[in-house]
Amino acid sequence: METKIIKIDQENYFNKILNYPAKVLREGGLVAFPTETVYGLGCNALDEEAITKIFEVKGRPGDNPLIIHISEIEMLDDLVEDYSGIVKKVISKFWPGPLTIVFKSSALVPSSVTAGLDTVAVRMPSSAIAQKLIEIAGVPVAAPSANLSGKPSPTSVNHVIDDLSGKIDCIIDGGDCEVGLESTVLDMSCEQPTILRPGGITLEALKKVIPTVVYDAALEDQESIAKAPGMKYTHYSPEAAVYILEDFDYSDEKIKSIEKIIEKDFPDKKVAFMGSKSFVKKFENHFSISLGDEDNMNQIASNLFRSLREFDENDIDIIISESFEVVGIGHAVMNRLRKSAGYKTINL
Ligand code: TXA
Ligand code: MG
Repeated sequence: METKIIKIDQENYFNKILNYPAKVLREGGLVAFPTETVYGLGCNALDEEAITKIFEVKGRPGDNPLIIHISEIEMLDDLVEDYSGIVKKVISKFWPGPLTIVFKSSALVPSSVTAGLDTVAVRMPSSAIAQKLIEIAGVPVAAPSANLSGKPSPTSVNHVIDDLSGKIDCIIDGGDCEVGLESTVLDMSCEQPTILRPGGITLEALKKVIPTVVYDAALEDQESIAKAPGMKYTHYSPEAAVYILEDFDYSDEKIKSIEKIIEKDFPDKKVAFMGSKSFVKKFENHFSISLGDEDNMNQIASNLFRSLREFDENDIDIIISESFEVVGIGHAVMNRLRKSAGYKTINL
């Protein structure tokens, strides 16, 4: 299949450039499009055949439900059962933006979207291109991240082209994604408001509106079963093996012990380092990628997936990553990093 690529300058474009991809969506095709979090692979959420294609193209397990994207609140009415006043408050504070809310699903939503659950995840993206695309299409758009299952989510169009070119109808090139990590998934379908996946909207920010909100136990403890089906799968994995450094304090002694570990455990491997600017400076004799300034966690978050893919382009075997404080967006960063590492660590 030939994939049409449409380049859009985010600052300066006419909406009519979105007429073609909107028509593709309406007619049951697949369109990858930029959002403020990561690129999504979209289809008409009410078209069962199109949804089946999404699962096939991504190689996604059928028990992992999709997020439905909307462009205005009125679109919720058809998709979900009635919801409470506190949910309305959350919506008015955080939508449009990087927050997905899990509701009790209406009968209209196909069971292939919800993977047979009685709940449905919905998000209103703040990206102007995403919003306009959904509005012109005139249908709710189901969209997982636009990567092959298991790979890091795409934060720039080249990642989408690498994974999906030739397999889908259209890719909208809208430049790099701002947040760089997927949305926070917040379950409001049960008594206890619960964060199932940490993301762009932090626990701290949500607590201001819902003081009782908690993290799903599975986020803190590997033994518990995740409530978001997708959270149990291996994810965000580059070809290289990732290890997270524990107890690194920037001292010469610890740097020496890392060099010793490399000599002993990875003698013939291409070893590289990833972390904040000051971290990678400590390893100048190795290939390394800086994620950004150590005091700018948003920048570090937005560069994580891009960097994991860049190591593969450089045929790196082993990535040794700095670990970050689990606070604010640092929670989402460490969640993705630990998954990409398959929870492997180097303890100094
Ligand atoms: O930022 C994002 O959320 C991006 C952009 C494209 O919007 N999308 C995204 O979709 O990350 P995906 O499919 O890669 O991740 C969706 C996550 C999965 O972990 C899935 O299990 C969870 O949301 N999810 C979807 N529906 C759910 C439901 N009804 N109950 C619990 N978890 C659900
Ligand atoms: Mg994904």
